[in-house]
Amino acid sequence: MKIEMRDIHKAFGTNQVLTGVDFDLEPGEVHALMGENGAGKSTLMNVLTGLHSLDQGIIVIDGKETKYENAKEAENNGIAFIHQELNVWPEMTVLENLFIGKELRTSFGLLKSKEMRAMAKRQFEELAVTIPLDAIAGSCSVGEQQMIEIAKALMTQAEVIIMDEPTAALTEREIEKLFEVIESLKSKGVSIVYISHRMEEIFAICDRITVMRDGKTVDTKPIPETSFDEVVTKMVGRELKDRFPERNVKLGEVILEVKGLTNTRSFQDISFSVREGEVVGVSGLMGAGRTEIMRSIFGIDPLEAGEIWLNGKKTTIKNPAQAVAQGIGFITEDRKDEGLVLDFSIRENMALPNLKSFSPKGVIDRKAEGDFVDMLIKRLSIKTESGETSAGNLSGGNQQKVVIAKWIGIGPKVLILDEPTRGVDVGAKREIYQLINELTERGVAIVMVSSELPEILGMSDRILVVHEGRISGELMKADATQEKIMTLATGGQ
Ligand SMILES: Nc1ncnc2c1ncn2[C@@H]1O[C@H](COP(=O)(O)OP(=O)(O)OP(=O)(O)O)[C@@H](O)[C@H]1O
Ligand SMILES: [Mg+2]
Repeated sequence: MKIEMRDIHKAFGTNQVLTGVDFDLEPGEVHALMGENGAGKSTLMNVLTGLHSLDQGIIVIDGKETKYENAKEAENNGIAFIHQELNVWPEMTVLENLFIGKELRTSFGLLKSKEMRAMAKRQFEELAVTIPLDAIAGSCSVGEQQMIEIAKALMTQAEVIIMDEPTAALTEREIEKLFEVIESLKSKGVSIVYISHRMEEIFAICDRITVMRDGKTVDTKPIPETSFDEVVTKMVGRELKDRFPERNVKLGEVILEVKGLTNTRSFQDISFSVREGEVVGVSGLMGAGRTEIMRSIFGIDPLEAGEIWLNGKKTTIKNPAQAVAQGIGFITEDRKDEGLVLDFSIRENMALPNLKSFSPKGVIDRKAEGDFVDMLIKRLSIKTESGETSAGNLSGGNQQKVVIAKWIGIGPKVLILDEPTRGVDVGAKREIYQLINELTERGVAIVMVSSELPEILGMSDRILVVHEGRISGELMKADATQEKIMTLATGGQ
């Protein structure tokens, strides 16, 4: 299938999101789409697949002008879309999710359960996915849910597959598998639109790249003819300084210390401490138990054993409210679940947890609140018309920035960050690192769970590696390397 999109325009109300995008896709190519958060990548693909109508421009598919009425029609015509925001139905089983809306039926309308199960099994095997088909989808980790979505798209036998940030939540191994599948699809003539903020991946598997900035195409080039630096410069419209800003903070007293935390299902005997101004990175493979540990410290999940000490005093945390009251903040990996209320405006999301500071006399000081929200929008370069936009209408990366802003405002003493820059573009990543540094200057103790090794290495004073629910090793910044972390993460010594 060959796709050409010419001079595409799209506005939401007065917000001009696409203002003349050209994009084309050849059969059997992997075409990267890159651009800062809010550049319009997801919107462009939503226009292609009929989720949004276009205001101007044309779409030509195999020589014929085409306009799909909805995503279903696009899918029926061979275009599958793996969305950036996961869409699994949490109450249904994995198998049911794989076949929602496209159940196989006999001529009598009966479900062909056996066939569906066999088909799902084959697809999972090809992707080396081991999730039980009868598991409840909502109980799967974010990474597993992502694999379910990928499998679901692959099963449609599409000629074009759009992957919007497919690897953000995947393990190294899952990513490798996905890349193998992409190679094999390519050899069958399937084309892929690959949207990602991870430069390394794009240079590893893509044939061409289109860079977008502010709703326009900046350039399209074969991958071998470009470089990291060129792409970044085109994306942000300027040269970017060093990836990880320098930090010079004197570490203070131990603020948070945990001893022997255990929740037999997910982790055992977890002990570590964090000092004022320190960034402790927590590395490990997806599913090693890192998120579960953090959830328990924050009081979301119960602990079976272990102690939590704050400022040298033993304490109990039974729920998130108690954690927050004692100065602990938590930026979750799943922004849709716990981080963000999509129906609320940016202002409400940011200001809600901070209401006390805007209402010293019991009355909300709207001016202070507005200034605070505007400051954070500006600081994190959140792409929006105003603070009144509802969070659900922001681009994926910009949603993540709102979550971070919300917690920064609270002024926690300990801030736990779980995959803080997932889906965030290079420029904004640096802003977030800079913010983390500023927090440490104010004495905040940071625990940062991240699956991006460069981020762990670039930002941590000390690195804990978690393997199968236990801390398998601890490395100081000075002698940490990618290899050492990987060895510990996979159970080696
Ligand atoms: N349904 C909508 N209503 C209003 N505005 C929207 C809607 N969807 C997207 N936008 C706006 O369009 C712009 C582009 O968003 P889009 O999601 O396409 O960005 P993106 O390039 O995919 O970014 P990211 O890398 O963060 O995913 C953003 O400013 C966003 O707020
Ligand atoms: Mg997007």
